Amino acid sequence: MDDAEKKGGKINSMRTNGKRVVTRLNEIYQCGKKEDGTYTRMAFSAEDIKGRKLFASWAQELGMNVRMDEGGNLIARMDGQNNDLPAILMGSHLDTVPDGGKYDGVLGCVGALEVCETFKAEGYIPKHPIEVIVFTDEEGFRFGKGLTGSSAVCGRDAGIQDSESDIYGEERGHVMQSYGITSEGVKNAARDPESVYCFVELHVEQGARLYRTNTSIGVVSSIAGVNRYEITVAGEANHAGSTAMADRRDALVAAAGFINKVPEVTTEYGNEFTVATVGTIKVTPHSVNVIPGTCTFSLEIRDTDAEVMSLVEQKLQETLGDICKSYGVSYTFVPTSFHEPAPMSEWVKENIVNAVKELGIDYCVIPSGAFHDSLIMTSVFRTAMIFVPSEKGISHSRYEYTKDEDVENGCNVLLQTILNIDRD
Ligand code: GLV
Ligand code: MN
Ligand code: MN
Repeated sequence: MDDAEKKGGKINSMRTNGKRVVTRLNEIYQCGKKEDGTYTRMAFSAEDIKGRKLFASWAQELGMNVRMDEGGNLIARMDGQNNDLPAILMGSHLDTVPDGGKYDGVLGCVGALEVCETFKAEGYIPKHPIEVIVFTDEEGFRFGKGLTGSSAVCGRDAGIQDSESDIYGEERGHVMQSYGITSEGVKNAARDPESVYCFVELHVEQGARLYRTNTSIGVVSSIAGVNRYEITVAGEANHAGSTAMADRRDALVAAAGFINKVPEVTTEYGNEFTVATVGTIKVTPHSVNVIPGTCTFSLEIRDTDAEVMSLVEQKLQETLGDICKSYGVSYTFVPTSFHEPAPMSEWVKENIVNAVKELGIDYCVIPSGAFHDSLIMTSVFRTAMIFVPSEKGISHSRYEYTKDEDVENGCNVLLQTILNIDRD
């Protein structure tokens, strides 16, 4: 490629192969096939490892150097013209929620590899080395905490211990042996901030803003913060047949009274983006003929404004207190994890916007309600995200779908963004 081509002509006409990306999304999806008829690649599972191996084989076929760091992150590296320069990072995650879809996370990994494959096919050698990263356990449903690999890369405490158990009662230390990593070792995956030029993540929106407005690309302004709590309501376990209604202190009935109020309080004190969810619940002693003595459930609050999150937390806690008082039960309200809302890098966003304009694709700037590895990555590295539409806003579901042309647009925007950044 001569200088004239590098400046304009050839590199501005470089395009990814959308068909190959869609085929690969399907191939990774197939790796999650389970006996119960679902497709699930839970982090550290046999299905997850199958998907990672397939992904690694594609990167190796491209001549990329593939390694796994101590955080279990899979990293495929392509040499640049000057390997002393910091690496441009792209990527996302391959693990899924139970019965998840084809696109969440996978698009960001397969799309990133497609950019490398296009560079190779075009004989384009970037100035910077390029790394495609598949983060460890982004979803976190198994142990109730995700973003494990990205936290490790950023040198942040992932809050994990080998002794903790997952929802199936399996110990983390044992579970993580499938990657050959330990909770202690994960800390060694922290990257020197100087070794990374920036991070760009392509992802499906998982909401309906792009779909409803018929917009092709979303440039993410910020990622909503996520605060989680464990609430336990304590009443009195007693006989379900012989305890009169007036004499009961039913923990589940009190909890239900609160849970029923969550949407109303969140809508009153939040804004159009604020969401709050009770996603798990358990009672003791969990018997058909015993009035529940305790009820423990999760509460999660998300918003792009930390002050709004605090206000909603305060109002929900007050509501819980009032309701528990009226039922004569007590409660505890324990914070379990906090992630501040995270604005994306202006500089990376600008490169994405320029790329979209150069490609003549329509776009808008939107916040992300879902969290992503970029939520953590932005605390250390210049980071931004590219969204493509999710049909009807459906995600974390087998019905998750993004049109092939949107997949292709997303990959081309990622490609053009990396070209712009590399030339910067
Ligand atoms: C991750 O997908 C989340 O937003 O919960
Ligand atoms: Mn995701
Ligand atoms: Mn997800």
